[in-house]
Amino acid sequence: MKIIRHPRELQQLCMDWESKGRRIGLVPTMGYFHEGHLSLMDDCRKRCDKLVVSLFVNPTQFGPGEDLETYPRDEERDARLAEEHGADVLFVPEPGGMYDPDHGTWIQVPEMAKGLCGASRPDHFRGVCTVVCKLFMLARPKVAVFGQKDWQQLAIIRRMVRDLNIPVEITGHPIVREADGLALSSRNVYLTEEERRNAPNIHVVLRSAAEKAKSGTTNAETLKRFIRDELAAKVPGGRPDYIEIVDPETLANVNEVRQKALIAVAIFMSRARLIDNFSIEV
Ligand code: PAJ
Repeated sequence: MKIIRHPRELQQLCMDWESKGRRIGLVPTMGYFHEGHLSLMDDCRKRCDKLVVSLFVNPTQFGPGEDLETYPRDEERDARLAEEHGADVLFVPEPGGMYDPDHGTWIQVPEMAKGLCGASRPDHFRGVCTVVCKLFMLARPKVAVFGQKDWQQLAIIRRMVRDLNIPVEITGHPIVREADGLALSSRNVYLTEEERRNAPNIHVVLRSAAEKAKSGTTNAETLKRFIRDELAAKVPGGRPDYIEIVDPETLANVNEVRQKALIAVAIFMSRARLIDNFSIEV
């Protein structure tokens, strides 16, 4: 596995692979790998000839006061794991290599970025879309894999790719969880012992709300109230940022669950902010 730090070098290599008919796959990440990231790599590996994994803690998607400076990092371990999971290249750019001092071009999908995580992180998805688009231009993938854990991110990237005719197939990979149900996240290291004990109940609550919907409680307000009450009881110390029921594709709020919907929540703990979601099919 080759570690590349310069955007132009990655682009050159990928253009070269492309001209030889190689099918390139891309898994964008911010590193500190867990099984979630690794299963994205395994998934993508099966869909391509050359696997590029990017590791870049992208400054433009962090807001003021967020954890850009303290975001967990371990490049050496990440490099070893990426290699074990079949990466041909680990792309680890410097922030200055990705953004010129006068960088001024942004990609936005405002309608889909205003709710859910976008409500409390106003410029977050602008940073995500811009960096993912840049990574597409550099790595020229035919396929890219994203996790369903960040459902809003996945839906926005699908829309960006459609709207801009970017020639890449986007694959959504199911949420990888701990044995007790907690969705894996690099930020789980911020949890205290007690928070870690209670956090799996987020998944428990969302699952029981989905079951409630299936058995006839389809009113979104009623379901959201149920989730709020259950979270208060089962995840003490957790403060909901949002509890929403949305259309899985457009992310628009739904009033009644008909056919498909997505329950999505973000919960503030003392230091961490956990997100999770659950698909409902009625
Ligand atoms: P990061 O949080 O490192 O996540 C990288 C990828 O791993 C994303 O597609 C995310 O959805 C996926 N992922 C994280 N936890 C997961 C889990 N438990 N199960 C399945 N997939 C999981 O998301 C980002 O980085 C950044 O926003 C990025 C897309 C790299 C742009 O900077």
